[in-house]
Amino acid sequence: MEKNDLINPGLENENEEKQENVLRPKTLKEYIGQTKVKENMKVYIEAAKLRREPLDHVLLYGPPGLGKTTLANIISNEMNSNIKITSGPAIEKAGDLAALLTNLSEFDVLFIDEIHRLNKNIEEILYPALEDFTLDIIIGKGPTAKSIRLDLPKFTLIGATTKAGSLTTPLRDRFGIVERLELYEPEDLKTIIKRSAEILDIDIEEEAAMEIAKRSRGTPRIANRLLKRVRDYASVLANGKITLDIAKISLNKLDIDDIGLDAIDKRLLDTLINKYQGRPVGVDALATTLGEEVSTIEDVYEPYLVQIGFVGRTPRGRIPLPAAYKHLGINLPERETSKKYSNQIKIE
Ligand SMILES: Nc1ncnc2c1ncn2[C@@H]1O[C@H](COP(=O)(O)OP(=O)(O)OP(=O)(O)O)[C@@H](O)[C@H]1O
Ligand SMILES: [Mg+2]
Repeated sequence: MEKNDLINPGLENENEEKQENVLRPKTLKEYIGQTKVKENMKVYIEAAKLRREPLDHVLLYGPPGLGKTTLANIISNEMNSNIKITSGPAIEKAGDLAALLTNLSEFDVLFIDEIHRLNKNIEEILYPALEDFTLDIIIGKGPTAKSIRLDLPKFTLIGATTKAGSLTTPLRDRFGIVERLELYEPEDLKTIIKRSAEILDIDIEEEAAMEIAKRSRGTPRIANRLLKRVRDYASVLANGKITLDIAKISLNKLDIDDIGLDAIDKRLLDTLINKYQGRPVGVDALATTLGEEVSTIEDVYEPYLVQIGFVGRTPRGRIPLPAAYKHLGINLPERETSKKYSNQIKIE
């Protein structure tokens, strides 16, 4: 694994996914943080249970590694229902979706990850399935072809996406429950780290857990990953116990600074501040300069930099904000360009 991959909250491989399952909370009560989403879901789940109806379709969105898959599993668990898991790109043909839908039982949860990557033709088959629990299929070809309508069991679709904006309006409108996951506060990440340490039998000091939390960019998956890497240092450098000192030394060795920025973040900020001198930069130009994918910039790097007030999004592009200059020890320019643009920052 590259050092930089430590902060890329995407999953690297199957093995990591298996390890991740061990750390996944199973109930709403165990799910840390995201108070608003949790409170809402608790009410919706209880109400659906009281009415003896399946839960309305749920759309979960937010940056990678914040707990969408985890929450989908918890919802089905709390509803005492079975979950079938698939993803947008895995459903290639109309027949794939028809097979999935017709194999569901009443109250089942169908979880479609990366739902924004669902093929448009397939999406259209999903509309009546979501709305009326029916499926229209065409049998045969040419003049003898006929369309038949099948009734489906009443199920719950849970869709997850990092890009709610890429969802078509008709699909989005068919979700009765839409919840956005937010980046986590360090305090919540600390709790997550302590919980994971207990499961993995890692001895960690309170302050050390907080240190890792502060450098985890608001993301549980990163927090868990850093915990494991710091454990490696602790076993080699000390007797396995993660003290504050060990945590600091290892995180520095991993090139992650005291607020969680890595080399790519620094290059991104440097590009905005020095190369473009604080003028708005389009995300395409930024991606080209950094040699990264646009989606990596948008999903991985930007959310945190925006959250901590280092980067602003304006209609004309991204700008560096004063806090970024300060963190990097760069003087704000005389005619501070960012001031000129900062009144245009979009509030989302
Ligand atoms: N609220 C939480 N409490 C405790 N652990 C959490 C929480 N949210 C996420 N995690 C941990 O973080 C890891 C990543 O979560 P998850 O796989 O659900 O993220 P995701 O949003 O589905 O990511 P992606 O967009 O990449 O699919 C899991 O291993 C889980 O243990
Ligand atoms: Mg996921």
